[in-house]
Amino acid sequence: MKVLVTGGAGYIGSHTCVELLNEGYEVVVVDNLCNSNPESLKRVQELTGKTLKFYEGDVRDEALLKQIFAENEISCVIHFAGLKAVGESVAMPWEYYDNNLNSTLVLTKVMKEVGMKNLIFSSSATVYTADNEMPLKETSRTGHCTNPYGWTKYMTEQILSGMSHADKEWSIVLLRYFNPIGAHHSGRIGEDPRGIPNNLMPYITQVAVGRREQLNVFGNDYDTPDGTGVRDYIHVVDLARGHVAAVKYATENAGCEVFNLGTGTGYSVLDMVHTFIDVNRVAVPYKIVERRPGDIGTCYADPAKSAEKLHWKAEKTLADMCRDSWLWQSTNPMGYGE
Ligand code: NAD
Ligand code: UFG
Repeated sequence: MKVLVTGGAGYIGSHTCVELLNEGYEVVVVDNLCNSNPESLKRVQELTGKTLKFYEGDVRDEALLKQIFAENEISCVIHFAGLKAVGESVAMPWEYYDNNLNSTLVLTKVMKEVGMKNLIFSSSATVYTADNEMPLKETSRTGHCTNPYGWTKYMTEQILSGMSHADKEWSIVLLRYFNPIGAHHSGRIGEDPRGIPNNLMPYITQVAVGRREQLNVFGNDYDTPDGTGVRDYIHVVDLARGHVAAVKYATENAGCEVFNLGTGTGYSVLDMVHTFIDVNRVAVPYKIVERRPGDIGTCYADPAKSAEKLHWKAEKTLADMCRDSWLWQSTNPMGYGE
């Protein structure tokens, strides 16, 4: 079975390509490389001993998508392609709405035309409102997003569920990711953020490797056990395997279903820093600073629906995530750029 992976050269996409190839799927990738390096796809093929087909181009390019569907008998699409930096989305809202909404509209237009209607979409826990009880269930309240990035995920969920309501041939899986971190255990592929990282784990690894002086811990006065923010960190390989489960689900069930991909366990910023130091025996100097505007204290998933219906559950520990992130960073100090 052939799967089209949009944004397959990126962080989550490249790990998902590995898991798909290992499970015997054929993989076709389309990526415009606006936030990735084609070296990731070389390494995916090296790790699996299998080849994939790569089209360099934009998902908003309708002619290219038609060509891809004409040249390959695709059975399911995993749609990762999009822009993902919250702060940047506040500064460049048009670019975010254009990329994230139009890529989905063009993709689904072509899918409708060719009659292939199995789609997995990368959504985010950011669609949940800040006032929910924890853990977050798929039925928890959504909306009231605080930035354009979050709105693009919320709006795309609305667009796709509306399409599936109107046309019962669609089989759509909306995956709400919690906080993906970690890397393939080989250390050959991993997260390669451009510029100063916004997210906790890449910041920690860049401090540990000496590219940044110290970690700023954003606030220690939250209502959490140690006062620092609590999140549901999930190993990217577990997340990638969740997509393989979702492909199976989408090709066997019609309709539109939402699933949380998280572990169900929350860890604080200091849990993360101390686990990282203990597991890797490296120094991570840090200081406590003001809260980051827009952050909430605690966010973690109820992953029960994914366990029941996707037959998937996260297996890796926080120590695995810290070890694999460090192996990737320490063996590729400049990411793929070296
Ligand atoms: P990433 O930036 O590493 O990967 C996205 C890939 O899409 C990149 O390779 C980029 O070059 C490509 N791309 C972007 N726009 C494109 C376009 N118009 N046409 C073709 N290719 C395009 O990001 P990631 O962390 O792998 O995230 C993948 C998806 O998961 C994104 O949709 C993101 O919003 C979503 N997501 C990520 C996180 C996270 O914390 N990493 C959390 C929740 C949801
Ligand atoms: N943090 C620090 N210092 C840093 C970076 C982060 O203390 O340098 C803290 C944050 O305050 C937070 C925790 O580490 O408590 C995690 O922060 P991240 O930026 O790694 O992750 P967020 O949960 O804030 O955001 C992530 C994604 C968003 C997505 C959101 C909800 O980056 O894209 O989850 O799904 F919208």
